[in-house]
Amino acid sequence: MPDDFPWVWERLKDGLRPELPLTVSEWASRYRILPPTSAEPGRWRNDRTPFLAEIMDALSVHSPTERVVFMKGAQIGATEAGNNWIGYVIHNAPGLMLAVLPSLDDIKRNSATRIDPLIECSPVLKERVVEPRSREPGNSMFRKKFLGGELVLTGATSAKGLRSTPARYLFMDEIDAYPADADDEGDPVALAIQRTVTFKGRRKIYLVSTPTLKGFSRIEAAYLESDRRIFEVPCLDVGGHHTQAAYNFVRGKDARRVWAVKGHNIPGKAIWPRKPSKDNKGRVPLYMVGVSAAKEAIYARLKITEPGPGFLHFPADRPDTYFRQLTAERMKTVYVKGRATRVWEAGSRRNEALDLKVYNLAALYGLQAIGLDLNGTAAVLSGLPDRVSGQAVAVPAIMRRKPTRSTWLSG
Ligand SMILES: Nc1ncnc2c1ncn2[C@@H]1O[C@H](COP(=O)(O)OP(=O)(O)OP(=O)(O)O)[C@@H](O)[C@H]1O
Ligand SMILES: [Mg+2]
Repeated sequence: MPDDFPWVWERLKDGLRPELPLTVSEWASRYRILPPTSAEPGRWRNDRTPFLAEIMDALSVHSPTERVVFMKGAQIGATEAGNNWIGYVIHNAPGLMLAVLPSLDDIKRNSATRIDPLIECSPVLKERVVEPRSREPGNSMFRKKFLGGELVLTGATSAKGLRSTPARYLFMDEIDAYPADADDEGDPVALAIQRTVTFKGRRKIYLVSTPTLKGFSRIEAAYLESDRRIFEVPCLDVGGHHTQAAYNFVRGKDARRVWAVKGHNIPGKAIWPRKPSKDNKGRVPLYMVGVSAAKEAIYARLKITEPGPGFLHFPADRPDTYFRQLTAERMKTVYVKGRATRVWEAGSRRNEALDLKVYNLAALYGLQAIGLDLNGTAAVLSGLPDRVSGQAVAVPAIMRRKPTRSTWLSG
């Protein structure tokens, strides 16, 4: 051990002692620091996600629970709960741990964006895990060696990876996206669980997924085998205050085409509604944007490879991150009140560029709905006659409208 971890050896000599027994949620609130790239950087707060506490605590070594099944909605902290467990294991209960994601690509992404920052940002972890660039080959995208144990990360497509290590701790994320078979060797979940058998009685297995189709979902099957706990979430009036401020801002500005919009995810709803609704607290015209339809339109256009109708042009200086965000989402089937529904989902990826494109496209549809004619406008701008009619075109009404005096600029 002194050869593997010279710096830790130094610390042990300096009198480092094992910590008091903690649960995973207690560990997280004391030691977990979320990286600057996360939605809410800084210290982990259990009160942000109270429903995760019991789930995490069942993963603590003192809990008698061996298997924790988390069937969940998108983006509610399930992966982070598992990452807290990883931190807890490294710090408090070292041993062999296997973490599985659907594919090796998912592992590469997750390792760089979640696992490395988890270790880097929490000093108690950093000092226990082999340095990334040390000569010791214990820290790679697929392997994090730490004092008293090791974390192996693998994809569910790789039977070799799933067989690579016996594991006391097994973290299987997004299991409904696993292939039916890993290299023709059988169900990846069964293969991985097989690796924990020698630890029966003290092993921990954390199975996580958003469910896919009822009757075909692994997480649903695992949940039905469990004691089927449910966490009922109260419906919150999030952002009520900001929403009111937005309504106050747009009130009376319809003529200047300052519109209140709100996205809804109902599949099949038009990108831009024929009429705004007034059914809101501000009693202002509110345009409900069909986000699903907009994403479908955008993704269909991204597939067009030849310049022409629908082809998307981008400024040359857009960075790679922009395109990653733009292409971050995919269709997924989730349950809404027990019904299978297809939704767009970004997973752990950032998607602000796509959100912007959605609202920009909606704004364009909104302008077209009140008379903007893009071909006509383009023709006016280039001083050429309209290509379709061959006639000189009239300036679209929307461009001729006299600027209205604003009350809020002068006020
Ligand atoms: N307690 C918390 N405090 C602060 N941020 C949190 C907390 N829990 C989750 N988050 C943030 O919420 C986001 C979603 O978390 P996470 O990726 O773990 O959810 P998920 O349920 O695994 O999502 P997905 O459905 O995409 O797999 C992340 O940006 C994460 O950092
Ligand atoms: Mg996740």
